[in-house]
Amino acid sequence: MAAKWAPDSWTAAEARQMPDYPDAAALKSATDTLSTYPPLVFAGEARNLTAQLGEVAAGRGFLLQGGDCAESFAEHSANNIRDTFRVILQMAVVLTWASKLPVVKLGRMAGQFAKPRSTPTETIDGVELPSYRGDNVNDIAFTADARQPDPQRLIRAYSQGAATLNLLRAFAQGGYANLHQVHRWTHDFMGRSPWAQKYSETADRIGEALEFMAACGIDPETVPQLAQTDFYTSHEALLLPFEQALTRQDSLTGDWYDTSAHFLWIGDRTRFEGSAHVEFLRGIGNPIGVKCGPSLEPDVLLRMLDTLNPGRVPGRMTLITRYGHDKIEAHLPRLVRAVTREGHPVVWSCDPMHGNTVKATTGYKTRPFERILAEVRGFFAVHRAEGTHAGGIHAEMTGQNVTECTGGAIDVTEQSLADRYHTHCDPRLNASQSLELAFLLAEMLNTEMAERRQAAA
Ligand code: PEP
Ligand code: CO
Repeated sequence: MAAKWAPDSWTAAEARQMPDYPDAAALKSATDTLSTYPPLVFAGEARNLTAQLGEVAAGRGFLLQGGDCAESFAEHSANNIRDTFRVILQMAVVLTWASKLPVVKLGRMAGQFAKPRSTPTETIDGVELPSYRGDNVNDIAFTADARQPDPQRLIRAYSQGAATLNLLRAFAQGGYANLHQVHRWTHDFMGRSPWAQKYSETADRIGEALEFMAACGIDPETVPQLAQTDFYTSHEALLLPFEQALTRQDSLTGDWYDTSAHFLWIGDRTRFEGSAHVEFLRGIGNPIGVKCGPSLEPDVLLRMLDTLNPGRVPGRMTLITRYGHDKIEAHLPRLVRAVTREGHPVVWSCDPMHGNTVKATTGYKTRPFERILAEVRGFFAVHRAEGTHAGGIHAEMTGQNVTECTGGAIDVTEQSLADRYHTHCDPRLNASQSLELAFLLAEMLNTEMAERRQAAA
């Protein structure tokens, strides 16, 4: 890879998964407009996130990353944003309470639109049309018009991202995330779930701890951290013309940052050697992720880490592994050993979603909850055996009461998938399944921490 980097140096490399825009001038006009728009995030915020992820890489924190597979224009509403935000808060509380580790909260939100696809076209009843690539590219309706990539959608995606981020900042900083509200984050529809009950017990104990602390003079007035939280945004950096248009030089350091989100990741289909996506991401200062699937060889990963993080900055790299419940224990140890041997500081995060997608007999794309949990167990088992920190979770989830993944305490069956199947792409955990996952994670993190304390004693 060339040593010199510029926001457009990716254009000389092989860019897979890009839409075919029929009108190059219209695309240029849209990206020219975007390049005059204000940044969505600031370089200093991205640096703070790198520092927090550096703590995670060192074993002193946990990364919780979650949100839609694909955000959509149709489902953009304050209630949807609030509901996903509060499940993430609930999960973070459960994890923090159990592990006593700070939890870094990172939404797949405020810009997670573009989707890589397994085939460039889709055929239904003998009609072949371009695949749906996300609302910032084309429309999901199966008509020739709707499937035509339209650059004006980039502008709409920017606006929706800005509005979402504005609300998230208000929720995170404006009182909603106050720990004294911990009971109010539960969704009404979760009443039947045993995990909601367990959450309520945790919230009681947190309430007692807060009362005790208040009696000692520690309350939101004296310690503002109790009344607010840090919340960051992320998406797959897939649509490079859009990412390039939002890439700006930081006036403080002179470094380049992609200001479309705090954290960007490279998908499993675009992380190959010589990829335009790797070329683009190597030059930006944001913390970045790489999806690691079964086809990734350890030597390729090591070369990629040297390219993306030559200075070995802790927190710069998060490796998001996504193998499938039946493959993780065979594949992950080789990567962990190679990365540890070379001394690359990384956050190891588990995506238990993308390797566990199946087709239900009813035709729906789904993910059995027990396989998701099985991959998480495998992830913790491997890191325990290798002596490394199981540092994070990456989940496709929503605060809505959807029926997209089968299983869980309020059992979603293959027959009930049709009831509330709303996703624009992959099946998401609903609020109840997300909370159940958090309790399993908490138990395993707790075990890791107890063993570490024992080893240190
Ligand atoms: C995703 O995270 O939505 C995705 C497409 O994942 P992957 O690149 O791991 O397949
Ligand atoms: Co997905």
